[in-house]
Amino acid sequence: MTGGVTDPFAKIRAATNAHRARHGCGAHPYDNGPLLAALAAAADARRILELGTALGYTAMSFASGASDATVDTIERDSEHVRLARENIVGASLDHRITVHEGDFATILPTLDPGYDVAFFDGHTPSPGLHKTLRGLLRTGGTLITANLNHGGTADAVRKALFDGKSWRSALIDEDGETAISVKL
Ligand SMILES: C[S@@+](CC[C@H](N)C(=O)[O-])C[C@H]1O[C@@H](n2cnc3c(N)ncnc32)[C@H](O)[C@@H]1O
Repeated sequence: MTGGVTDPFAKIRAATNAHRARHGCGAHPYDNGPLLAALAAAADARRILELGTALGYTAMSFASGASDATVDTIERDSEHVRLARENIVGASLDHRITVHEGDFATILPTLDPGYDVAFFDGHTPSPGLHKTLRGLLRTGGTLITANLNHGGTADAVRKALFDGKSWRSALIDEDGETAISVKL
């Protein structure tokens, strides 16, 4: 859903869809990289954290939007990590994007807090990871949470995002899939 806007990483997005068809994995690329690039630019982000790299489409979108930012992105599937690193080198963004190989729950505690922007795109969000992400984000930082319409544990995360106390949140699509939230 890029609305006719040129997406510099459209080929990586297409390659992610093709990879998923072959691999039978859950590498569904986010549908609007240019939106993420614009959000990173609007936040004047210096440090960005992503959960769910797949083949690097959204990590590269963030890095292109905020040209002074570094991006830490986490992925546990070793084939995805290999392909993402290859794509990131191909786009000459490897000096600003680090792909951390491992489970979110293992990698997150090793990272320094103070992120300006964080993006959850690792299948269904859960309250435990959401709490950890909040701790890593600076006050006033921006959290983007995808897959909020998955049901199950996602419902509790949506409730936390819209409780009116801890976050200033809005849904950014019609089907309620993604929220953008500022940490209060
Ligand atoms: C929806 S895809 C990410 C898509 C990517 N952001 C993009 O737009 O191209 C989710 C990715 O998260 C990874 N993932 C899911 N759960 C994970 C976990 N607990 N730890 C690390 N990676 C995980 C999957 O292997 C998959 O590559």
